[in-house]
Amino acid sequence: MKKFGFVLIVLSVLFLCAGCDIPNLKKEAAAPPPEKPKHNVLVVCFSATGTTKSIGKRIAKMTGGTFYEIRPAKPYTTADLDWHNPNSRSSREMKDEQCRPDLESDIIGFSDYDVIYMGYPIWWGEAPKIMYTFAERQKFTGKTVVSFCTSGSSPIGDSAKNLEKVAIGGMWLEGVRFGAHPTDAELQALINTVK
Ligand SMILES: Cc1cc2nc3c(=O)[nH]c(=O)nc-3n(C[C@H](O)[C@H](O)[C@H](O)COP(=O)(O)O)c2cc1C
Repeated sequence: MKKFGFVLIVLSVLFLCAGCDIPNLKKEAAAPPPEKPKHNVLVVCFSATGTTKSIGKRIAKMTGGTFYEIRPAKPYTTADLDWHNPNSRSSREMKDEQCRPDLESDIIGFSDYDVIYMGYPIWWGEAPKIMYTFAERQKFTGKTVVSFCTSGSSPIGDSAKNLEKVAIGGMWLEGVRFGAHPTDAELQALINTVK
């Protein structure tokens, strides 16, 4: 009789346990896999003094994208960047419509991405000529392009539209100008323009 009572207690405990935590375990096991990012994002930047680059890297992090820096074959020296000197390299380049500074190397795998952020500093109200070198060499067809720039105070103006003119294809969204230290909310607002 004692034995029968013991078996009865064990069976009751097992029965109760079946109704307690086990369903929770099942729930965890059945959790859906993490969502895949909506877009394959590439953030391309030219940055002479690091301002645009740091923003580009933040956008890459926030979008789960890849960051790529456009580098000139011949790096810019401080003297080259002296925009108060009409004979500095940057001043001469920006006055020359045909100028296309050489790239250090060509990007590999550009076709793998469907959203491209194009970042650059404003030089004399425009994108630096090296951005044209880059834009002319890529096929943007089927991609969404989001331009952003940094500047002392100048707006983005027609700089992104002028880049679009030399590029092959792509759906170019309205570009945005940032100061040196935009907030995450400002960057997110740009990211949200991509549907
Ligand atoms: C050659 C040159 C030209 C520039 N022209 C302008 C300009 O027309 N308007 C402006 O607001 N800032 C101008 N700037 C300032 C840069 O746009 C600004 O400092 C930018 O944030 C630098 O970005 P970076 O650090 O990524 O190179 C110029 C800077 C340089 C070096």
